[in-house]
Amino acid sequence: MGSSLSCCGKKPVDEGTNIIAGGSNHSWRIFTYKELHTATNGFSEDNKLGEGGFGSVYWGKTSDGLQIAVKKLKAMNSKAEMEFAVEVEVLGRVRHNNLLGLRGYCVGTDQRLIVYDYMPNLSLLSHLHGQFASEVQLDWKKRMKIAIGSAEGLLYLHHEVTPHIIHRDIKASNVLLDSDFEPLVADFGFAKLIPEGVSHMTTRVKGTLGYLAPEYAMWGKVSESCDVYSFGILLLEIITGRKPIEKLPGGVKRTITEWVEPLIIQGKFKDIVDPKLRGNLDERQLKQTINVAALCVQNEPDKRPTMKEVVSMLKGTYPRPKVNTRIESGKYKDEILAPDQERDNGVPEESGYGVFGAMEVPTMHDPFKRFADNRRVAKQV
Ligand SMILES: Nc1ncnc2c1ncn2[C@@H]1O[C@H](COP(=O)(O)OP(=O)(O)OP(=O)(O)O)[C@@H](O)[C@H]1O
Ligand SMILES: [Mg+2]
Repeated sequence: MGSSLSCCGKKPVDEGTNIIAGGSNHSWRIFTYKELHTATNGFSEDNKLGEGGFGSVYWGKTSDGLQIAVKKLKAMNSKAEMEFAVEVEVLGRVRHNNLLGLRGYCVGTDQRLIVYDYMPNLSLLSHLHGQFASEVQLDWKKRMKIAIGSAEGLLYLHHEVTPHIIHRDIKASNVLLDSDFEPLVADFGFAKLIPEGVSHMTTRVKGTLGYLAPEYAMWGKVSESCDVYSFGILLLEIITGRKPIEKLPGGVKRTITEWVEPLIIQGKFKDIVDPKLRGNLDERQLKQTINVAALCVQNEPDKRPTMKEVVSMLKGTYPRPKVNTRIESGKYKDEILAPDQERDNGVPEESGYGVFGAMEVPTMHDPFKRFADNRRVAKQV
């Protein structure tokens, strides 16, 4: 795309147009640093929406009145540059109502910035575990809308775009919500383009522990079913309101699958559901959704459904499988969930995650911890 993105092998162009699934026009262009600096009030702390592995995200308003979210790369190194290039490259290829498209980018000598549309309801994470959690805006209907919409975005990536794309970082902070709580899957910096005819690849592990499929976390084996696993964890999170990994007294970590599995086996569906819903839900849909989640988080990748099947099951248009009485959900090696004090020095203390044995793993971030540290109230429209 941009002239400096030579690793993408693209000719420089100044703007483009994405026609997204709903027929609306989504055009992007190159922004100047000055423009983004002005729009975000000099990247002021007051405008900061959050912070991730890539850098900080700022709310802004362009001179023509468009509300934007500007992601500013924090460090200029080859890894960060590659993430930036992948994100822009992938975003340029995808057009779907449930994927957060590109509004533009800015490449300076020592700056890399990506511009998106501002999503007034921020991320799913902020509603489940962050600053909006106490407001309980997510009723059952909204939760189902978020689950189905995110699944449709993933279906598009896996089955409709060529080459197929594996997202590799599906998680609650990467599902953004528009003013109508329509979900938009974001953050393609870790995405992998899959050449035709390739069923899986072995790569360095990237992503967020708790959402990572075991075969990927332990052996770096990546395929579409890794996203299916992460989506299953996201579904469990949406249903239960619990975090993918919880720290128990004494530092022991418990995964959401470990917590939910016995309850599913005993058919205690009402004990699984988020108490904040106060029982206001569609029971038939609840059972079906729990079942879909259980299918997605199975240990063996081949047993997991495709995203096409997931969407059909969630919408109730697929022959409904019987609710599982036994699930064999994925498990990490014990070392991965080791208590903090026994952790390897390679992982920063504040990350809150265990080690990956001898595997090469980039620094992991604990989205919940980071979120808790960032108490800034986001801008509302
Ligand atoms: N387009 C947007 N509109 C509104 N808020 C956004 C937007 N993009 C990001 N944010 C906010 O900024 C926060 C940080 O996003 P970012 O993607 O940098 O980090 P993350 O998702 O928490 O972690 P990671 O770097 O692992 O993806 C998000 O949780 C979200 O609340
Ligand atoms: Mg993100």
